[in-house]
Amino acid sequence: MINGKTAILAIESSCDETAAAVVLNGREVLSNVISSQIEIHKLYGGVVPEIASRHHLDNVNMVVEQALTEAGADMSDIDAIGVTYGPGLVGALLIGLATAKAYALATGKPLIGVHHIHGHICANYIAHKELEPPFMALVISGGHTNIVEVSDYNACHVLGGTRDDAAGEAYDKVARVLGLGYPGGPLIDKIAKEGNPEAVEFKRVFLEKGSLDFSFSGIKTGVLNYINSEKQAGREINVADVAASFQAAVLDVVVTKTVGAAVDMGRDKIVVAGGVAANSRLREMLQTECAKKGIKLYYPEPILCTDNAAMIGCAAHDIYMAGEADDLTLDAIPNLPL
Ligand code: KG4
Ligand code: ZN
Repeated sequence: MINGKTAILAIESSCDETAAAVVLNGREVLSNVISSQIEIHKLYGGVVPEIASRHHLDNVNMVVEQALTEAGADMSDIDAIGVTYGPGLVGALLIGLATAKAYALATGKPLIGVHHIHGHICANYIAHKELEPPFMALVISGGHTNIVEVSDYNACHVLGGTRDDAAGEAYDKVARVLGLGYPGGPLIDKIAKEGNPEAVEFKRVFLEKGSLDFSFSGIKTGVLNYINSEKQAGREINVADVAASFQAAVLDVVVTKTVGAAVDMGRDKIVVAGGVAANSRLREMLQTECAKKGIKLYYPEPILCTDNAAMIGCAAHDIYMAGEADDLTLDAIPNLPL
């Protein structure tokens, strides 16, 4: 306990960020340390799992110590240890999990496994202290695109997800095709502002009527085909126009399905989470559609959108308060269902 509040030490290592945080009562962030490997993976144009695991291993102890120091806390102040145990890269998850287990074993504090997507959603409780379930959530990142019905703090039900690529993955792949670099999401976000979203008509994939699933794997091919045919015709590619048109095709589907799901389920709140939640056009489009339907829109500041441990601390707190904990047999599950 710190100042009479429950203190969670949280660890996140599911992809390419080694992160640790100390969070009070699940909402007050005392420290949020993130060691990003983006500069390393940039060289390869994407996350290399084996390299990610090695860097997590090199950094994790330092990151945890820094989180405790910045919080002015030591392990005796901590009530429980929260850790992401899936979904994610298995080698990457194992490093954070083994570290959390070692702290739990050495100190006798409870260990609390957190689902990464549950964590992303919880970032919004930190950003908006008044937010309470029920609400509809859109979790949109490099690894996931899910519409989730959140009926209570620990009750999340997935209504739809991607059948192939995640939205962020599509951004990253298209950015590579356009020669923009990695990670592609923020670069497309920026350059698309200068382009015409109606310049190229890329196919909007809505799937079967009523489905809340997504499919984004075709759009990369659509962009490639467009570039090739323009080149063959000897025409110059306008990168900003292609980026804006690609983004419009992805976001039209995402926004229509998310707002549609909220309306159908009678929800008056939509919560956005995950790396792509930082996208400025997504925020604008959702804001416009939500205003039309009388829905209140919530999203966290960019630092809480991308992977971090504060969100894991928030989720772990709510699980801890529900009286649940895991034991040291907790394993990393790369495709953990929500
Ligand atoms: O949540 P996150 O850090 O990691 C996963 O759990 O996947 O999300 C990273 C993803 C990357 O694909 C990145 O390109 C995308 O989020 N991203 C964005 C923006 N910022 C990050 N995509 C679109 N617009 C942005 N501003
Ligand atoms: Zn994530």
